[in-house]
Amino acid sequence: MTALVVVGAQWGDEGKGKVVDLLTAEADEVVRFGGGANAGHTLVVGGEKVVFHLVPSAALHSRPRCLLGAGMVIDPKVLAKELEVMSARGLLPEGRMVISENAHLVLPQHFLVDGIREAGPNPIGTTKRGIGPCYQDRAARRGLRAGDLRDPDGFRAKLADNLEGWRPVIEAAGAEMPDPEAIAAEYLALAAPIVPWLGDVGDELHRAREAGRRIVLEGAQGTMLDIDHGTYPFVTSSSVTAGGACTGSGLAPTHIDAVIGISKAYTTRVGEGPFPTELHGEQGEALRRAGGEYGATTGRPRRCGWLDLPVLRHAARVNGLTSIALTKLDVLSGQETLEVCVAYELDGVRRDTPPAIGLERVKPIYETVPGWSGDITGARSLDELPAAARDYVRMIEEAVSVPVSILSVGADRAETITLGDPWA
Ligand code: GDP
Ligand code: IMO
Ligand code: MG
Repeated sequence: MTALVVVGAQWGDEGKGKVVDLLTAEADEVVRFGGGANAGHTLVVGGEKVVFHLVPSAALHSRPRCLLGAGMVIDPKVLAKELEVMSARGLLPEGRMVISENAHLVLPQHFLVDGIREAGPNPIGTTKRGIGPCYQDRAARRGLRAGDLRDPDGFRAKLADNLEGWRPVIEAAGAEMPDPEAIAAEYLALAAPIVPWLGDVGDELHRAREAGRRIVLEGAQGTMLDIDHGTYPFVTSSSVTAGGACTGSGLAPTHIDAVIGISKAYTTRVGEGPFPTELHGEQGEALRRAGGEYGATTGRPRRCGWLDLPVLRHAARVNGLTSIALTKLDVLSGQETLEVCVAYELDGVRRDTPPAIGLERVKPIYETVPGWSGDITGARSLDELPAAARDYVRMIEEAVSVPVSILSVGADRAETITLGDPWA
């Protein structure tokens, strides 16, 4: 078993950072395959908290290589900062990193247009990190890529063309056109720490695989934010599911061995869009407080609600999940009973997966299950958990027909119960 994909099974922020950090102990290569600095992946090691937006969540370990795949959109300012953090900790020796020459660059015009659209009549509630407009440039075949940082003249020429492409949008909004010379000067000055790491990530991964090296493919966002399989238009602009792990990294589908889906023991969502099990008022507020549910990227309060099994079934199918990592089980402690959405009703018909269109119209069908109390963050095996917490985990496995391989009972790397082998 050499390649394991990690994806979010809900609307993002499931705890992918923590799980990838854990899996890194057994990995030789960890690659981000999509998204950009809209992601915020939190690691807590020995009480210290670190959030990464672009570099893989393996960055605090010394051993595995960290790769940024072609499917990513890279904000050079954020990347330069994260490379500095790694370097300051002595975690950036020669050969530590490979950045795909084909990954796209997020530039000021992308932030500008993201902001213009979000100020308009139908906001998505984006992270305003320029993600949508950058992927739009990629599809329009007029984007600037990381490899362009090597060639200042080429960079300037492509930038001038690119800005002309955006002129109608920017002028229609009454905004000022960005100055190409200022952008070129600022961004080419950031190239020095990035250029030495540029390479062919797909080729590197194939060689690694042939050498028997273990590869973790780290997803960002979550299945319900996928451009094709999520709650369109309230999604991000990339393929965040397991298929995207291949297109975004260059590793072939036949070379993926296992896919682990990360899910919280409840549900959260940031930004606009349907969320059938959302709790409003005091109940939602209590969950937000207990789970510390504020965005790692934007600091926005996350919308909170009960666990949604139809969403997890959808994630299991779209991603071909071989196991689940269930996180934040500790947050549910202290509730007498818990509601779990086992199915939906839509137009009088019961369904056990989300409809392709019309999620905003479904009525969740809940089952009430017993809760548990007490601090469970110290548990390191299933028998150390209250019986009701064990039953909750088993109920999820049965409902989704996928085993739980990792159970997270706290934010720290150590606060984990291993139930199975995620690589199997
Ligand atoms: P990601 O985007 O999927 O990597 O998730 P985020 O880092 O945005 O959000 C997850 C949050 O939950 C972070 O603050 C983590 O430190 C925290 N976290 C992860 N697993 C657990 C857990 O089992 N229990 C608790 N209490 N917090 C956790
Ligand atoms: P991680 O990797 C949670 C959401 C935004 C918005 C929508 C589109 O930390 O799980 P975008 O800026 O991508 O155009 O925003 O997607 N979103 C996330 N929500 N976690 C994330 O990443 C997210 N990345 C994007 O809130 O609703
Ligand atoms: Mg996050």
